[in-house]
Amino acid sequence: MALRGKVAIITGASSGIGAGIAVAFAKEGANLSLTGRKQKNLEEVVKDCKKAGCQDVLTNVGDITQDAFRRTLVDTTKKKFGKIDILIPKDGLYTMSKAALDIFTRYLAHELVSHGVRVNSINPGYVPSQLGSEVMTDELQQSLINATPIGRAATPEEVGHIVVFLASDKAAFVTGECFKADGGLSMTTPALA
Ligand SMILES: NC(=O)c1ccc[n+]([C@@H]2O[C@H](COP(=O)([O-])OP(=O)(O)OC[C@H]3O[C@@H](n4cnc5c(N)ncnc54)[C@H](OP(=O)(O)O)[C@@H]3O)[C@@H](O)[C@H]2O)c1
Repeated sequence: MALRGKVAIITGASSGIGAGIAVAFAKEGANLSLTGRKQKNLEEVVKDCKKAGCQDVLTNVGDITQDAFRRTLVDTTKKKFGKIDILIPKDGLYTMSKAALDIFTRYLAHELVSHGVRVNSINPGYVPSQLGSEVMTDELQQSLINATPIGRAATPEEVGHIVVFLASDKAAFVTGECFKADGGLSMTTPALA
C-alpha cells in the first residue's frame, strides 16, 4: 500500500474528481480527512472509502473559502491523526488555465522545497462530473470525448491513481510537476487541454 500511515486532507471530496481521489487513497491505506459542503454526498463518499478499506474517516462540512473553516479543518485533522502529510485541494476553487497552473505549481514547489514539501498538480482531461454537467451541454461533453484519442472520458478514480503516485514516496524526487492525464487530448486539441 503506497500511502499506508499517511494522513491526507482532500477538499472537494464530496463529488467528482475529489471523491475519486478519496477512494483511491482509501485503497492505498491513507488516513482521510475529507471536506465538502453537501453532507449527504460526503457521507456517500465516506461509505465508499470504508468499502475500500479505510475505516476511520474524518469529515468536516463547510465552505473552504472561509478562514475559520480552513483553520478548523487543519486543527481537527491534527487532533485526530496527529499530523498532516498530504493536502489535495480539489474543490473547484483553483480553476485556472494550464499555463497559470504550471507557473503556480512551480512557484509553490520552489517556495516550499526547503521545508521538505513537494508540490505537484494534475491537469486532467474530461471527467464526467456534477460540475461538467452544470457548465457544459451534452453535445460539448460528447465533443470532448470525440476529441480524446483514447476514445472515452476518464473516471475520477483514474485521476486518483495518479494523485496516489505523486503523493507517495515513489515520487519522492518529483516536485514542481504539472502532470497531464488527458487521454491524449492535448496532442490533438491543445486549445482544450
Ligand atoms: N471534471 C473535469 O472534466 C475536469 C477537468 C479538468 C479540471 N477540472 C477541475 O477539477 C475541479 C473539480 O472538478 P469536478 O469535476 O470534480 O467538480 P465537482 O464534481 O463539482 O466537485 C467539486 C467539489 O468541490 C466542492 N466545493 C466547491 N466549492 C466549495 C466550497 N466553497 N467549499 C467547499 N467545497 C467546495 C464541492 O462540494 P459540494 O458539492 O459538497 O458543494 C465538490 O465536492 C474543478 O476545479 C475543475 O475545474 C475538472
